Amino acid sequence: MSDEVRDFWDQRYGEREQSWSGRPNAALVDVVEDMPPGRALDLGAGEGGDAIWLARQGWQVTAVDISQVALDRAARAADDAGIDTDRIDWVSADLAVWKPAGQVDLIAACFFQSPVELPRDEVLRQLTGSIAPGGHLLVVSHASPPPWARDHDWHGPALRRAEEEVTALDLPSRDWEVLVAENRPRAVTGPDGQEATIDDAVVLFGRR
Ligand SMILES: C[S@@+](CC[C@H](N)C(=O)[O-])C[C@H]1O[C@@H](n2cnc3c(N)ncnc32)[C@H](O)[C@@H]1O
Repeated sequence: MSDEVRDFWDQRYGEREQSWSGRPNAALVDVVEDMPPGRALDLGAGEGGDAIWLARQGWQVTAVDISQVALDRAARAADDAGIDTDRIDWVSADLAVWKPAGQVDLIAACFFQSPVELPRDEVLRQLTGSIAPGGHLLVVSHASPPPWARDHDWHGPALRRAEEEVTALDLPSRDWEVLVAENRPRAVTGPDGQEATIDDAVVLFGRR
C-alpha cells in the first residue's frame, strides 16, 4: 500500500467527524435501483453511504478504500443502520494493486477521484475483467468545479465529462455497451453556504 496516499486520505478524513453526507450518491440510486441485486464492488467507498444503500437493496457488497479512518466510520454507520455484518466486506487496500477474489455483477466507482496519485483508468480497466457477463460498471465523476473553486486554482482531482470518461476508458465495444453517458446537474452547497449547480459525469457500461 502506498503510505503517502493512505496518509493523505487518513489525514483528510481525520480533519472532521464526517466528510460526506452519509446519503448514497443520487446517480447510483437512479441507475442501480432497478437492477436485480447480486455481488457489488464499491471502489473508494469512503464513509460507506453507497455500500450501505447497496446492502439495503439486497446486494452483497465488497467496499474497498485506502483509508482505514473512512472504513471504520463506514462500518459504524452500517452498524447504526442495522445492516447485517456479513452483507458488507470492508476492505482496507490500495486499489492500484488490490484484486477481487471472484466475479461481480456491479462495480460502482462514484467520485473515485483523487488530488494525489491514483492510476484510476488502469484500475478501472483492470477491474472490468472481474465483471460477469450481463454485469455493469458505473462511473460517476466530478465534471465541473463549483464556482467558489473556479475563483481560485482548482486543487481537486482531474475533472472528467461523460464523453471524456468513455474515451479515456476505451473499453472494447465487442465486450462493452455504453448504456448511459450523461453530464447531470447537481445542486451543491459551498463552505459559506453558497448554493450552486455543478455537473456530474454519469457513465454506465454494460458487459455483453
Ligand atoms: C472523493 S472520495 C469518494 C468517496 C465515496 N465514493 C463517495 O462518493 O462519497 C475518494 C475515495 O477514494 C479513496 N481512494 C483514493 N485513492 C485510493 C486507492 N489508491 N485505493 C483505494 N481507495 C482510494 C479515498 O480514500 C476516498 O475515500
